[in-house]
Amino acid sequence: MKHKKKNLKGYELFKYAKKIIPGGSQLFGKRAELYAPGLWPSYYKKAKGCEVTDLNNKKYLDFTMVGTGTSVLGYANKTVNKSIQKSIDNGSISTLNNKEEVDLAELLVDLHPKMEMVRYARSGGEILSIAIRIARAYTGRDKVAICGYHGWHDWYISANLKNPNNLNNHLLAGIGSSGVPSLMKGLTTPFEFNEIESLEKILKKDPKRYAAVIIEPFRDNGPKKGYLEAVKSVAKKYGAVLIFDEITSGFRETLGGMYKNTKVIPDMVTFGKAISNGIPMSAVLGRRKIMKSFTSTFVSSTYWGDRTGPAAAIATINFMKKNNVGKQVKKKGLDLKKIIYEAALKSKLDITISGMPSLLSYRLNVPNWPLALTYIIISMLKKGILSNDRIYSNFSHSPKHIRKFKLAINQTFKELSKKIKDKNLKDSVPLGVKKMGFDKVLK
Ligand SMILES: Cc1ncc(COP(=O)(O)O)c(C=O)c1O
Repeated sequence: MKHKKKNLKGYELFKYAKKIIPGGSQLFGKRAELYAPGLWPSYYKKAKGCEVTDLNNKKYLDFTMVGTGTSVLGYANKTVNKSIQKSIDNGSISTLNNKEEVDLAELLVDLHPKMEMVRYARSGGEILSIAIRIARAYTGRDKVAICGYHGWHDWYISANLKNPNNLNNHLLAGIGSSGVPSLMKGLTTPFEFNEIESLEKILKKDPKRYAAVIIEPFRDNGPKKGYLEAVKSVAKKYGAVLIFDEITSGFRETLGGMYKNTKVIPDMVTFGKAISNGIPMSAVLGRRKIMKSFTSTFVSSTYWGDRTGPAAAIATINFMKKNNVGKQVKKKGLDLKKIIYEAALKSKLDITISGMPSLLSYRLNVPNWPLALTYIIISMLKKGILSNDRIYSNFSHSPKHIRKFKLAINQTFKELSKKIKDKNLKDSVPLGVKKMGFDKVLK
């Protein structure tokens, strides 16, 4: 053995992991530096409902993104797990196809009128690469206009080749682009949300080269009235396929895409995360004339034929339908928003809250936000709560859990306000301030 792990736990184990796992974790957002350096529990033994047990058997209520937005029903949902278990017991994969993928396709097209065909992958990044490939195959063009976060792949990260700050306004600031072929420079261009001129300008400049306009239609700030209609009409005018990326927004407040609450129907839509409540699964839905392009290119992978993903998605969707999950998750989100807002108000802290009700994020307008946020994370940890500046409501957040959160955030904001006033906040964050963006974490 080159290294010895001994009996490390928590942050110490994370520090050790970085010696044999570059970056320490598989998802950037799970790096401990993004929470509370030195203190973040980092690893879990068990996750059930919204309760997470760390390697020291300490239990926390999860008021972060709850599995990065995957587990909207709560971790290890019994009904979903039963279905997954059955699919494992009867063979999670075989030489033949699983019937569940046909059942799921039927379910998804029923939920999305105008979408006629479905394909699957197992992660958001994969399904978006597929969607872009298909848009390129269908149009015979190569450029892509993007708005939002769409994943780690070359086609997206190449937006930073021209200007390393290009993606700064699209969820993750400072993303590095080394390793992405320089030949891809200029193929992906970002546009600003809610500013239709920003999209029109780039398509107008190169009118016949854009294969796709891809956008997260709902995340931090909802679309302005008429904005999505305008995006659709501009995409159509320039012959680009319109793709809605609903990997994060889908299957939370709505049974399927949030776009169903509007009158704007895209040409393709992608889902992942909450669609299967914690089992890898993603899907792209689209109009037949576009989806037929799958047969003119090569899109194929062994584990996309696994049975647990479709089984989990079917069980999740049926559970959501039966229990009116969307409505409840939205209501809990609105309750949390009110709690956070009133807690800030009581402590005389100026706050900005954004996001759809089930995908809240907030920022206190204080002199040193990273320091204040680190303090909040530490204080909430001490009170048995995992928390950050993104708080996603969850079906498993019970009134009791929400009351506990309310008490904790009120106390935390009160203490924070006093410490800012007394100018001694730094003393309560002795192990370092959390990192806020990609470049800062790497350094
Ligand atoms: C809107 C959106 N698209 C794509 C992705 C990438 O998905 P994944 O992390 O599963 O590859 C994410 C992940 O956060 C996302 O929020």
